[in-house]
Amino acid sequence: MTLKSSPLSFTVNGKPVGPIDVPDDMMLLDVLHEYLGLTGSRMACGQGICHACAVILDGPGGPREIRSCITGAHFFANKSIRTVEGHAERDAQGNVVRLSPVQQAFIEHFSFQCGYCTPGFVTAATVLVERLKTAPVARRDLEAAIDKAMGQHICRCTGYVRYFEAVRDLVLATPGLVKG
Ligand code: FES
Ligand code: FES
Repeated sequence: MTLKSSPLSFTVNGKPVGPIDVPDDMMLLDVLHEYLGLTGSRMACGQGICHACAVILDGPGGPREIRSCITGAHFFANKSIRTVEGHAERDAQGNVVRLSPVQQAFIEHFSFQCGYCTPGFVTAATVLVERLKTAPVARRDLEAAIDKAMGQHICRCTGYVRYFEAVRDLVLATPGLVKG
């Protein structure tokens, strides 16, 4: 059997990728893992339920979370995404020199245990923080906004409270994200 494939070009973590020949029905998560060596986005349910595979899609409407296990790779043609590997600052050799504010907050709050779900939570929280920079939330609505951003993510170690507290504290400590 021969799988039909087509060339795919897109931007991953700020760098152009492709054109690479990708099967027409391959999901983005498999391309990240098998073609690009980016294994930080997790395969868990594989059915769009747990959000462990989430990546950021950057577009005209701002950043948004998208599940890479149920979204075909070719949907991302000529688009720009960020995986968890793209969040920290790196030096010229690719070594991490500084974690993102969300990553740092999760560490300081001991938010994760096994860490399998963490890339998805980092993705969701980062989208929330970036969106709040352009559309700050009223203080009374902050908890609901965090719940909306992260409430569909599943953590099998049940670390929800510390993820929640980390994001709440980060948002409250970052000027301009909360109004009123
Ligand atoms: S692995 Fe994609 S939603 Fe669970
Ligand atoms: S920390 Fe283990 S699944 Fe969330």
